[in-house]
Amino acid sequence: MGVVAVVGSANLDTVYRVERIPTPGETVLATEVAVHPGGKGANQVIAASRAGADAVFIGAVGNDEAAEVLLGALSDAGVRRRVRRPDVRTGSALIVVDDSGENTIVVDAGANATLEHLAEEELDEARRADVVLLQLEVPMATVQTAASVAHGESQLVLLNAAPYAPLEQALLEQVDVLILNEHEAELAAGSLGSTDVAALLRAVPAVIVTLGGDGCEVVTADGRTRVLGRRVPVVDTTGAGDTFCGVLAATLALSSTRSHDAFVVAAERANAAASIAVQRAGAVPSIPLAEEIDELLRRAGSERGADRADQ
Ligand code: RIB
Repeated sequence: MGVVAVVGSANLDTVYRVERIPTPGETVLATEVAVHPGGKGANQVIAASRAGADAVFIGAVGNDEAAEVLLGALSDAGVRRRVRRPDVRTGSALIVVDDSGENTIVVDAGANATLEHLAEEELDEARRADVVLLQLEVPMATVQTAASVAHGESQLVLLNAAPYAPLEQALLEQVDVLILNEHEAELAAGSLGSTDVAALLRAVPAVIVTLGGDGCEVVTADGRTRVLGRRVPVVDTTGAGDTFCGVLAATLALSSTRSHDAFVVAAERANAAASIAVQRAGAVPSIPLAEEIDELLRRAGSERGADRADQ
């Protein structure tokens, strides 16, 4: 109980802080530059580990200094690693963050693009996990394979459809929980000819839509529950969605039930974690520990009734 396997990307993030994000053709000066470990897969597995899961990362980094930074960050967070080292450059991201904490990101996949044809030992990690968490920064065929081997009665397959790409029916059939932001949810529902995210329940058993500072919505056949956001001072939203996904996965892996309510409880913990992450700079450096998340939930416990609106 409590094992989360993440099959995904690792990037070295270079973050430029600016007053406002430049428009096309415009040059602006940065007020600060920093380099942090990141990548959706690495962020999510570190979030799962810090939230209390036995977390394992299946991914690829290159043979360069960036790889050492990422491997060190995974180890420091207590993540078990099954990481390939092809002779190519490590994935990287160029991130511009403005004064309101919003960002734009450009990713060079680098080694992440070589994570193909998962070996038996890599697949075994996914088979052994209680929760397998996937995103779309590694080849789609790899996401499909990992979802297929993990899809079973007692396991949960979580797919964070980011960065968004059209989702094949064959993949959705292997997914238990689809996690999207508002924009991605609109695109995914639109691909089924609907404007309502509930239409996605035709394809998957549960959908969780993250709404930034406005919290999230949990949608299953048993209901729609809105978890309200927390009003906090935002420093940097980079990695907040990944923190949400990793903490959600860890909480579900540690839970013995798979009910609508279990998803809501996990979403509340994930939402609290994301609200801490946005108050700090960087992706990996902003991810909170279980103690911080649970302390925030304890303090807010009395407000919980007011934070939920069952529809
Ligand atoms: O979700 C944030 C992440 O997206 C960054 O860490 C960056 O590497 C990109 O993968």
